Amino acid sequence: VKGGFATFMDKEIHDQPKAVADTLLGRTDGQGNLVLDELRIDEAVLRSVDKIVVIACGTAAYAGHVAKYAVEHWCRIPVEVELAHEFRYRDPVVTEKTLVVAVSQSGETMDTLMAVRHAREQGAKVLAVVNTHGSTIARESDAVLYTHAGPEIAVASTKAFLAQITACYLLGLYLAQLRGNKYADEVAGYLEELGKLPEKIQSVIDGEEVVREVARSMADATSVLFLGRHVGYPVAMEGALKLKELAYIHAEGFAAGELKHGPIALIDEGQPVFIVVPTPRRPTLHAKVVSNIQEVRARGARTLVIAEEGDEAVTEFADVVFRVPRTPTLMMPLVTVVPLQIFACALATAKGLDVDQPRNLAKSVTVE
Ligand code: M6R
Repeated sequence: VKGGFATFMDKEIHDQPKAVADTLLGRTDGQGNLVLDELRIDEAVLRSVDKIVVIACGTAAYAGHVAKYAVEHWCRIPVEVELAHEFRYRDPVVTEKTLVVAVSQSGETMDTLMAVRHAREQGAKVLAVVNTHGSTIARESDAVLYTHAGPEIAVASTKAFLAQITACYLLGLYLAQLRGNKYADEVAGYLEELGKLPEKIQSVIDGEEVVREVARSMADATSVLFLGRHVGYPVAMEGALKLKELAYIHAEGFAAGELKHGPIALIDEGQPVFIVVPTPRRPTLHAKVVSNIQEVRARGARTLVIAEEGDEAVTEFADVVFRVPRTPTLMMPLVTVVPLQIFACALATAKGLDVDQPRNLAKSVTVE
């Protein structure tokens, strides 16, 4: 069942190129147009959407956070991302023009389900991005865009996360195409780029031994910080969540720009800090993060940097560099998160922990 891997999580990390490829499969007309027949929400309604609210929990919420950057850029529709359990207990502004996107691997997360019901009661259309066919959230939503990650067994989500991000890109590009905005003509180009991602993810996985070795050397770490900016920010939070749940190590993900507003006080001699670096092809964004690496390094941090191949600006300030292939900025999470998943998995294994079934956790959280 584990396909020759020691754990389900190992297998599922290796399944990721296929999870992304399968989620893309059959969703175009062969001429660069997206065909999402399954979105059984009237096209006129989708054209009139004036706000999108993504509701989800845990890793699925981080996928929603990545979606915000992409969908706002391509569609010029404001996107809010909210933890499902917070959404329901306040008084959210939701109208018939709001599209609520519920992201869930299991489709059974009670917090997300309750938020779906709440949104529908307010008159919003709910689109579910779900991995499990026939699940409750899928059944109770107005439409479903399935991720095709296949069954995810390990409690820690990996391949479902990549598939959720991929499905959200498809949704964003579809809305741009439908609404005929200035990005409509670029949909084919973005789809082509997305089509290259499975191979790129595979190349990151092929380099896993370097990550594993570093992880093994850090089995005694008591706290690890993760920094990212732009789409690297949700990746940083996801990296921290993986480490908490698998290795029981205190970990926190920050927006790199927040450093000087407080978290930099945490930096002490030897503090491990992962930094997710954007492509140097976005020079302003890139330069900001490189200076964040310098700032923490100058205060004694051990810097573990995830950067694009050929990005030499980081080497001077990095104790370790994990390379990812050149990828369009908005799609970088599909490659940059992979070393962080491998790191958490390897570190937990080095500590002798149960990677597939961490303590106190359940695969789907069916209580509120
Ligand atoms: O099944 P869901 O996607 O709705 O689950 C949401 C979270 O409970 C889930 O992503 C959780 O955070 C994972 N254990 C993270 O690895």
